[in-house]
Amino acid sequence: MYGSDSGLLRKLVFLLFIPGILGWGPEGHYATCKIAEGYLSEEAAVAVKELLPESAKGDLASVCSWPDDIRKQYRWSAALHFADTPDYVCNFNDHRDCHDPSGSKGRCVTWAIFNYTKQLSGYHNPTLESKYNLTEALMFLSHFFGDVHQPLHMGYLGDYGGNLIAVQWYENKTNLHRVWDDKIIESALKSFYNSNLSSMIKSLHQKIETGWFNDASSWGVCPNNETVCPIQYASESTVCACKYAYTNVTPGITLGDEYFLSRLPVVEKKLAQGGVRLAASLNRIFSPEAQLVAEC
Ligand SMILES: *[C@@H]1O[C@H](CO)[C@@H](O)[C@H](O)[C@H]1NC(C)=O
Ligand SMILES: *[C@@H]1O[C@H](CO)[C@@H](O)[C@H](O)[C@H]1NC(C)=O
Ligand SMILES: *[C@@H]1O[C@H](CO)[C@@H](O)[C@H](O)[C@H]1NC(C)=O
Ligand SMILES: *[C@@H]1O[C@H](CO)[C@@H](O)[C@H](O)[C@H]1NC(C)=O
Ligand SMILES: *[C@@H]1O[C@H](CO)[C@@H](O)[C@H](O)[C@H]1NC(C)=O
Ligand SMILES: [Zn+2]
Repeated sequence: MYGSDSGLLRKLVFLLFIPGILGWGPEGHYATCKIAEGYLSEEAAVAVKELLPESAKGDLASVCSWPDDIRKQYRWSAALHFADTPDYVCNFNDHRDCHDPSGSKGRCVTWAIFNYTKQLSGYHNPTLESKYNLTEALMFLSHFFGDVHQPLHMGYLGDYGGNLIAVQWYENKTNLHRVWDDKIIESALKSFYNSNLSSMIKSLHQKIETGWFNDASSWGVCPNNETVCPIQYASESTVCACKYAYTNVTPGITLGDEYFLSRLPVVEKKLAQGGVRLAASLNRIFSPEAQLVAEC
């Protein structure tokens, strides 16, 4: 069954599962971007407002799921939402792992983050600006910061980041990928936040501010003063996928309170971290220093 047709089979399965591989559900992406909005510098906030489409009404979070909405029109973008590792490999290697399902190098979330960062860095340089649609670049970048923090977007290739692992979430059939995209967040909203997303975001914000996450003050920093460091984010997610997402999960298992309550803190940290890092990166991209460099 794993004969010469497996390439085609993989592609077919890949297409079938496209809806499931597109990252945090709308709530997760909204939360990440809403948290980021709270940490934007004045310069970055101005640039973001200028680049947002009119439909966003000045709210970045409202368009952070846009790359999922346009997936049918922009088929080329499907592989940019994730970067899986070989099966049971728990470290991320960009050279090995950044490719699309047909093996094309650089077609994955880490390179997409570099790509859209570079495009947005041309914001202060009108000649570069005209080459790219920076409104789209901003919406892609903000979305991919969410995706690179969803551990199962750096899951195993063989099970499509958990998409092929059927599980039961309480009384409902689903798969492990969706548990991490949506179900944990949805259950948290119902159980703890009266189904109010703003209230969950407020709580995450408070946790960042009050030191509940012990290392939040260092989240925004990249090694060597880099503007963005997606390989580091992906490496952390790979470790997280092995340690928390896949652990104690077998196909057909019913996941309930024990899995929910032990994994929710991981999901909360990832949402908060994605938001803080997105803001820190946008602040660097749109900083006055970046403007000086662009003008030289
Ligand atoms: C970079 O951005 C351009 C414009 O959206 C897109 O055509 C290209 O596929 C992107 N490449 C990657 C690796 O993100
Ligand atoms: C840039 O992209 C947005 C979103 O796809 C689109 O609405 C807008 O028309 C594009 N702008 C240009 C100049 O093509
Ligand atoms: C199961 O699915 C039903 C119908 O969509 C939904 O109302 C319910 O909240 C789900 N249960 C859980 C625990 O997600
Ligand atoms: C949701 O929570 C926010 C923040 O705590 C609050 O301001 C808002 O009134 C709540 N909305 C509803 C419908 O309860
Ligand atoms: C990072 O940038 C700051 C300010 O621009 C500078 O003081 C520091 O030396 C730089 N660090 C490295 C490792 O390049
Ligand atoms: Zn996505």
